[in-house]
Amino acid sequence: MRTYVVAGGTNGMGRGLALRFLSRGDRVTVVGSDPAKGRRLLDEAAGLGAAERAAFLRADLTSVAENVRVIKEIRARHDALDGLVSTAIRHFPQRVETPDGYEATFALYYVSRFLLAYGLTGLLERGENPMIVNVCGVGVTKGRLHWDDLSLRRGYGGIKAMLQGGRATDLLGVAYAANHPDARTRYLLHHPGFTDSGTDTLKQPAKAVIKLLARFAAQPVEKAIAPIVGLMDDPPGEGGLLAYDRRRPLDPSLPSLDPAAARRLYDLTGHLLRF
Ligand SMILES: NC(=O)c1ccc[n+]([C@@H]2O[C@H](COP(=O)([O-])OP(=O)(O)OC[C@H]3O[C@@H](n4cnc5c(N)ncnc54)[C@H](OP(=O)(O)O)[C@@H]3O)[C@@H](O)[C@H]2O)c1
Repeated sequence: MRTYVVAGGTNGMGRGLALRFLSRGDRVTVVGSDPAKGRRLLDEAAGLGAAERAAFLRADLTSVAENVRVIKEIRARHDALDGLVSTAIRHFPQRVETPDGYEATFALYYVSRFLLAYGLTGLLERGENPMIVNVCGVGVTKGRLHWDDLSLRRGYGGIKAMLQGGRATDLLGVAYAANHPDARTRYLLHHPGFTDSGTDTLKQPAKAVIKLLARFAAQPVEKAIAPIVGLMDDPPGEGGLLAYDRRRPLDPSLPSLDPAAARRLYDLTGHLLRF
């Protein structure tokens, strides 16, 4: 029996992965902020006969303290992990600043994924074939880190924030792999492609437009998660970073995977690991 954590596992691709793992006999802890979605996930687990193997941790992952609490609870619950999957995402049409002073998209897409990855590395290193999976927009080169204004106090836009968060989370993968050259834990940056999920937190009219587009162009969640499960079960090569757009490996020399930028971002955020 393998053990997984899915941060953002109550909806969309995270939920799809959690249910896939549970249906094949694995143990899964799902993290999400909405207790009703958590209860629904646990009911679905019970329907699969997996009630004993499913757990839900309610946490607002935009908060540093909440991520630290989640890490401590998972460390108390498990001796080893086989995978950490990060899919938590939310659209913030207006700028939201977290109590830690981060812009909320950056907090969820980068800071939370950073804390969970580094905070759970000890458990992952004791897993079998362990992998961190960051489901994101890797391969997209639009957007950038606003180094002089990471909290986007000047000229906020929801798309600008999402693109910055995406580029930051790409760099997280690069820095993580560079910081763990001898680790057993692989780090996968995965672009799932346009998928019929993730519209719940969009506001109108964007929600109606994306839902309409999704009806014609998006793949179902089951199709989106298939390559992720394949890469987790049977990772190619040995060690280091994996970056994929669906089933296609990406060029590690992409400008969005620049090691110097990754080091710079790590240097700016490394202090968060003192807990
Ligand atoms: N869908 C696409 O077409 C697409 C394309 C490219 C990349 N991606 C990437 O794929 C990943 C998964 O996307 P998705 O479409 O599956 O997303 P989704 O359906 O919107 O699911 C997001 C998950 O994040 C959780 N979440 C949101 N805010 C949270 C918070 N503050 N604390 C804890 N959990 C929180 C949600 O649960 P609660 O509401 O309970 O908090 C939910 O379980 C994202 O990183 C996205 O950028 C998606």
